[in-house]
Amino acid sequence: MPFIRETIVTTRHASGDTHIAPMGVRERGRELIVAPFRPSATLENLQRDGCAVINYPDDVRVYAGCLTGRRDWPVCDAERIPVMRLRDCLAHTEIEVARMENDELRPRFHCRIVHEATHAPFHGFNRAQAAVIETAILVSRLHMLDDEKIDAEIAYLRIAVDKTASGREREAWAWLMAAIAAHRHRPSRPTP
Ligand SMILES: Cc1cc2nc3c(=O)[nH]c(=O)nc-3n(C[C@H](O)[C@H](O)[C@H](O)COP(=O)(O)O)c2cc1C
Repeated sequence: MPFIRETIVTTRHASGDTHIAPMGVRERGRELIVAPFRPSATLENLQRDGCAVINYPDDVRVYAGCLTGRRDWPVCDAERIPVMRLRDCLAHTEIEVARMENDELRPRFHCRIVHEATHAPFHGFNRAQAAVIETAILVSRLHMLDDEKIDAEIAYLRIAVDKTASGREREAWAWLMAAIAAHRHRPSRPTP
């Protein structure tokens, strides 16, 4: 199985605006692989520009926020590529696409590292942060999951949040719980 880092990928829209999206990035030696499902703004931007920034924030509100319509996180210039990075991240990696492996469902961008920098110390793992990221992934897949599966996962992940969260993780958790509730109460589609 590949080693996957759950990161925040920033890319540039054709308009010049920054696009911010959580993405799992696979490591293969010095090569990093970004694999967005179609359709995806990250995919379009990577295809057009051929570069992106992989950001490593410890504020998990960015992950939960992007999944719940809160994509407006502070950004600043990267060093070597014309894409903005998250201003508040522990570290970031600037990448260029070396080759694209096309696929109808999920193309893969094989990328080389052009620059890396560290901005703040890593202070260790936190269970609530891991639980928020896991729940954000769950929220990105709500359309594929039944209520029983969602409830079981939430019941388990909530334990770590209740025991170990700071205010940031609690806020992120609340956004995700609201998204799950909204998903459940969405108007059902009229039957044809
Ligand atoms: C931790 C995490 C990892 C994710 N990894 C991926 C991924 O590797 N590929 C993908 O297509 N979506 C992934 N998602 C879901 C996307 O972030 C989400 O669907 C997003 O809107 C992608 O579309 P966009 O590029 O148009 O923003 C992930 C979500 C989370 C919370």
